[in-house]
Amino acid sequence: MKLFQVVPEIHRFEKFRDFAEAFSLGAEDLIITNRYIYEPVISECGCGCMTLFQEEYGSSEPSDVMINGMLRALSGKKFRRIIAVGGGTVIDIAKVIAVAGEETDVNRLFENVSGLKRNAELFIVPTTCGTGSEVTDISIVNRTALGTKQGLVSRELFASHAVLIPEFIATLPYKAFAASTTDALIHAVESYLSPLATGYTEMFSEKAMSLIIRGYKRVAEDKGSIAECAGDFLTASNYAGIAFGNAGCGTVHAMSYAFGGKYHVAHGESNYQFFIPVLRFYKSKSPDGKIKRLEELLCSELDGGIKGLEELLGRIMDRKPMSAYGATEADVADFAESTVKNQQRLLGRSCVPICEEDIRGIYAACLR
Ligand SMILES: [Fe+2]
Repeated sequence: MKLFQVVPEIHRFEKFRDFAEAFSLGAEDLIITNRYIYEPVISECGCGCMTLFQEEYGSSEPSDVMINGMLRALSGKKFRRIIAVGGGTVIDIAKVIAVAGEETDVNRLFENVSGLKRNAELFIVPTTCGTGSEVTDISIVNRTALGTKQGLVSRELFASHAVLIPEFIATLPYKAFAASTTDALIHAVESYLSPLATGYTEMFSEKAMSLIIRGYKRVAEDKGSIAECAGDFLTASNYAGIAFGNAGCGTVHAMSYAFGGKYHVAHGESNYQFFIPVLRFYKSKSPDGKIKRLEELLCSELDGGIKGLEELLGRIMDRKPMSAYGATEADVADFAESTVKNQQRLLGRSCVPICEEDIRGIYAACLR
């Protein structure tokens, strides 16, 4: 049984400028980012890299339509290294571009996963503290033709270098901070509960949970403390990424994709919708299973276990019912069916078996 791996080299620099100098970024390199990240921080470095701005190809999370537009724009261009600087959307897109070669339809990459081959060195600089995507081998794409998000998974999607730069986190808008760190916490918890968890992954999951919960306690009292905690949240997100990159995520992520894909809800916010209800479902099905160890861990950081976690999260971000995003009764059965049909990889990493009826019940409970 394989126990653990971390593929990318992990670096930390206080400023983007330090990173650009250390790796001599230049005209042969392609930076994929957003203009609002590029203009204040990257452009002043004057490294002369080629650029590709995600927002020029669509908004929200990565879809096949958006990525195909970018692949067409890059057709015929040569670059030695790809530098992804951004949140989950930019990173997921960069991973696909790094293996696309001359292909201009991402859907065909999904059909030929075993044939994927990386054609440029990939550097990932996360500017949110949630995805952990800088250390994982997966790219999530909204496949509009299928009506759901799906993960493209291949060893070829690993970055060569993950680069942590707290400068970006300290200036993150509060909503993006809250959603991305909640996602990181869910990665830590889901990987901890996964049947594929090992002693190695549990160390990273536990440390990530502890850093995030302690950081949240500070932020709940004083939002001004985010800048001081930025390094810890970035580290926690990276630890959680290492844990879930090995042990996987489970039902929370599985249920999030149908809902988030249809109503264009940001990934962390969409996951938050199902996080506590899924933990309660696990507890009801197997109160003495691994969820018990999770509760003991949570109790070492805050009062009340899952209940205490729910209260703390409520002080960080409001949780609205699915109907507030436009979801209806008809979505409940459709989402449950879609989740069972399209998300078996994730459902298989839940800590208790879960069937379509169970999933329908959780969606129904989250509707209003
Ligand atoms: Fe996630």
